[in-house]
Order: sequence, then C-alpha cells, then structure tokens
Amino acid sequence: MSLKKFFITTPIYYINDVPHIGHSCTTIAADIIARLHRQLGEEVFFLTGTDEHGQKVDEAAKKLKLETQDYCDQISPRFKEAWKDLNISFDYFIRTTDEKHKKIVKEVLEKIYKKGDVYKAKYEGWYCIGCEKFLTESDLVDGKCPLHPKDKTVWKSEENWFFKLSKYVPELIKLIEDPKSNYIFPEGKKSEILAKIKDEVKDVSLSRENVDWGIEVPWDKKQSVYVWFDALINYYSASQFVEGKKDFWPADLHLLGKEILWFHTVIWQAMLLSAGIKLPKKTYTHSFYMIDGQKMSKSLGNVISPKQLIDTFGVDGSRYLVARSFPSNNDSDIGIERFKEKYNADLANNLGNLVSRVCRLAEGNDYGPTITKADEKFNTLINECKFNEAINHVFVSYIDSSNELLNNDKPWKLDKDDEKRKECLSTCRANLQRAAYYLSPVMPESCKKIKELLEGKIEAVKKPLFPRI
Ligand code: MSP
Repeated sequence: MSLKKFFITTPIYYINDVPHIGHSCTTIAADIIARLHRQLGEEVFFLTGTDEHGQKVDEAAKKLKLETQDYCDQISPRFKEAWKDLNISFDYFIRTTDEKHKKIVKEVLEKIYKKGDVYKAKYEGWYCIGCEKFLTESDLVDGKCPLHPKDKTVWKSEENWFFKLSKYVPELIKLIEDPKSNYIFPEGKKSEILAKIKDEVKDVSLSRENVDWGIEVPWDKKQSVYVWFDALINYYSASQFVEGKKDFWPADLHLLGKEILWFHTVIWQAMLLSAGIKLPKKTYTHSFYMIDGQKMSKSLGNVISPKQLIDTFGVDGSRYLVARSFPSNNDSDIGIERFKEKYNADLANNLGNLVSRVCRLAEGNDYGPTITKADEKFNTLINECKFNEAINHVFVSYIDSSNELLNNDKPWKLDKDDEKRKECLSTCRANLQRAAYYLSPVMPESCKKIKELLEGKIEAVKKPLFPRI
C-alpha cells in the first residue's frame, strides 16, 4: 500500500535581503507541520527556496556592483544555510534562476496564451518595487506603499501582456465559497478575499517591458515574465522536475504571510484554472511579527536574524519560541527580552528542570516500554497552525500535571522501594515520554535526548537540556 502523500510549501523568499525572523517564522511553521506528517507515517514533500528575478533583486545586485546572477549565487545559499542551522527538514530548495524551473514557467505561460487568456495593452500606474506590484490610488498612504513607506513608489507606463484575471472571477467565487474546498484558511481571510473579489477585479499584467532580469516571455522576446507569475509557478514546477515528486501535485498546503494572500488565493488559482492544472488544496495565511511594537525593518535596525536567535536560545529553543509566538491571527509583538523570559520560564525552569528532577530521582530504574499514541487534539491544532495552543495542550496535560504529582507525592522523602514513589516516578516518566513524542516536531533534538534518557535504565542528566539564560 502506498503511503499517504503530503506536499507543503513556504513562500520563496526574495534575496534582496538576508534571512530574518519573519522568514524563519513561516519556515519553522512549515517544518513543524512537515515533521508531524512524517511522524504520522506519511510521505512528505516539503519545498522552500528563493525568488530571484525581478527589479528588486536586480537593483540590490547593482547597488553592490555585482552581476545579478553572481549576486543571487551569493545570497541564495544564505537562506539555505539559515534553514539548515534551524534544523529545517526541507526536501528540496528551489531557485527560480534554475533552468529547470524556467522551462516549466514557459510551458505554463504557453498554455495560458494558447487558451486565449492573454492580450497586449498599455498599463499606467504606481509600482512598489518592495512588493513588486502595481498599487491603486486607494492602496497608497500619503503617496507611499504602506508596507514600504521608506521606499520610492514609481510611476510606470508601459505596454504589457495582460492576463484575463477578471474572466475567472465567477469560477473563483464559486470555488472559494464552496464549503468542501476550504482553500482559504483561516476563515477571516476567506471573507476578506470574497469581499474584495466581489467588489472589483482588474486584469493583471503578466510581463514587464523594461525589466531585463527575468524569464523571457515565450511569445515575445522583448518582454520578461512578471516576477510574481514566475514565482508562483515554483510550487508546481518543483513537483514536476524534482525526481519522483510528480504525484505530489496538487500541493496540500501553501503557507504564507498576509501581504501575499491575494497572489496565492486569486491570481495563482486563476493561472492554474487557465492552464488546466489541478488546484492546490489549501492555503494558510498568518499575520506578522512586530518587534517591540514596530514593524521589523533594516533601516530601523530592529531585525532579528536566525543566527542571533540560535546564539542566544539554541536551535530548539529558537524553534520553540517562534512556535509559541507564531502570529496566527493577529500581528504578534516579539522581542529578545520577552523571548528570554519565556525561554527561562518554559524550557529552563519547567520542562528542562522537570526532566532533570525525574531522571535524578529515578536514575537506574527501568519502567518498561511506554506506548505513545497520536494525540488528535494536538495534531488538529498543529494542522491549523495553532502552535501556541498545541504546545500549551502538551504542557498542561503532561508537564504541569507531573510537576503537581511530584510536589504532592514528594518521592524524595520516600524510600527507594516504596510503591508510591515508584508509581509517582513511573507516571512522570511516561508523561515526559509522551510530551517528548508530541513536541518532537517542534524541538527534534531535545526531544530525542529526553526519549533516550528515559528509555530502559533511566540516566541522570549530565548537562542541562535548556541552560538558564
Ligand atoms: N517572493 C515573495 C513570495 C513569492 S511566493 C510564490 C515574497 N518574498 S519575501 O521575501 O518578501 O517573503 C515574504 C514572506 O516572508 C511572508 O509572506 C511571510 O511568510 C514571511 N515574512 C516576512 N516578514 C515577516 C514578518 N515580519 N512576520 C512574519 N512573516 C514575515 O513575498
């Protein structure tokens, strides 16, 4: 019997900048879900990568006086390394400058062209290079893009190839409203998109006249493919060119941040409908990390890098803190000081300390095997990206209850072969084994260590699992 397949993706990140905690947030979330599905015995394809074309990346290279491809070759590995450092278990890292990807982008666009969904027209409007998209007057705040207020918004007027997005509006509404499809998650984002799509949808340009750094439009060599049309296709292209992954399409879950919701739920679906390709099953859109009340930005100097996190909290500590503060519905305010408090409270003083106490008290004992079954509540919460609630469920069910039991029974006051002492420690050990099993998608290495300490003859902890900061 073939295993159930699960295909999960992160956005592919622009390489005009190096990775920060915002990128890490989506990537860690995807990794936790991917690891959970592997733990459940499924065959997982976890895809991430870098978005390397377009004006923004080209300008970043030019600023450093580098050839754009050389620049990409320098920056893209920084993302891959950051994900390796965070123990991200991606199965493939896609780069949009890869010829194999480019070939499939051209094939998909040819299909859209042949369907008659493309026409040439003049476009005039404000363009935000930071977002790589045209903005309407109502998108602007004081003449600037609200997401990139420090950057220039440029007036563009050019002949482009347009994609007949508006043609697909009735079909998209039907699809999004269909309770069975459940494509847009969480619910709030679904209503947001439905309201917008029912209001007004204009066709979008799929090419650029004056941007050289991009894939050539197959039927017009003077134009390059608009970076978003190129980037969205990555999800499909990887499944087609990476060996043995064809059957993983359609993707089960695209994870993304709220600023790119429209691209993933409206433009992407319409492109696939036009090209006659099966639609992905679900998108999950999260909110933003804010740092001490402000949006993270390079110019404010408040960006937290994955390295800074790992140096302070270790790999698993960093993963845990990101999962606990994950901005599921609303923007989440984070900061290193707050992270330190949470780390000390939950990991050093609670979980780490409990493991040390139980191992010290039960050292040398063997309580036999513990059967660990999947916890449906935990799995559902993780699949809904409610990481904080999922972890809380494990803490309340297994960790807090063990602390309580220890404090009530006080096994250190009882004789070594006292039945009550044995029962208390055996229960705590079983609870910790379960907690380690459930939390291993979040903290793989620490949970492995906990499992090893408690297996067979219990060993005392030599080095604290989570040293206090
Ligand atoms: N290249 C496009 C995506 C193309 S996908 C086909 C892009 N790249 S990006 O580098 O700007 O990354 C955006 C994504 O990074 C967001 O959607 C989100 O997943 C993550 N985040 C970036 N900043 C963030 C925060 N401050 N907080 C949380 N996530 C953030 O858009």
